[in-house]
Amino acid sequence: MSRLSVNIDHIATLRQLRGTKYPDPVLAAYIAELGGADGITTHLRQDRRHIQDRDLFLLRQTVSTHLTLEMAPTEGMVQIALKAMPDMVTLVPERGGENTTERGFNLEQESNELEPILSKLQDSEIEVSLFIDPTETNVRIAAEIGSDFVELNTTFYSDAEDFEKELTELDKIEKSATLATKQKLGVAVGHALDYQNVTNIAAIESVEEFSIGHSIICRAALVGMERAVREMNEIIQKSSQK
Ligand code: PXP
Repeated sequence: MSRLSVNIDHIATLRQLRGTKYPDPVLAAYIAELGGADGITTHLRQDRRHIQDRDLFLLRQTVSTHLTLEMAPTEGMVQIALKAMPDMVTLVPERGGENTTERGFNLEQESNELEPILSKLQDSEIEVSLFIDPTETNVRIAAEIGSDFVELNTTFYSDAEDFEKELTELDKIEKSATLATKQKLGVAVGHALDYQNVTNIAAIESVEEFSIGHSIICRAALVGMERAVREMNEIIQKSSQK
């Protein structure tokens, strides 16, 4: 059975938009677990645009499934990870000002920088995953430098403009996932997966874990709308007594 790790960052995006105390991503994580999430993922970005340090430390205390911290490979972030002690860290390339994660690592060029960070986290018993574009070279290097997991970037598949491109990208993910399993790496997938495009990926046998955020938070806003309106209207009607 594959596992679903729910990324709750965009609950924090809504909170930061108004500077309110709600909605709280910690509470959202709890409800996601009630709904059957196998894990919670959160990305503490260097610009702190959504998740704050406070959220990460509270999540560590409240998440009872499996907590994954996505972070940029910097010494400052390593220090925070060593204090928070998530179950797994996924190292992700981060570009200041980007709208969302734009790419996976190209390990041919970037593995030297990642290797010492990976070891430091693993020395403290934190599992490490590398967010990579799905290529054979990336998978082989991830195994060589001792990563525990790879997370295969599904953006190019999800954003494919036509069926042919979609199949090409799907094939890259399938081949990379199969190779990663052979190399004894855990296999996660993520980014831009939604309720339609996830089906092809879920059919790939080697994929163990899904990291999904945006589409789930968006669906939650819509399926929760009717109840939210009813509750507000009930309060108004009760309080106005007209
Ligand atoms: N995986 C990684 C490495 C990410 O950076 C993100 C977004 O933070 C996700 C998965 C989740 O992507 P989405 O929100 O599009 O489901």
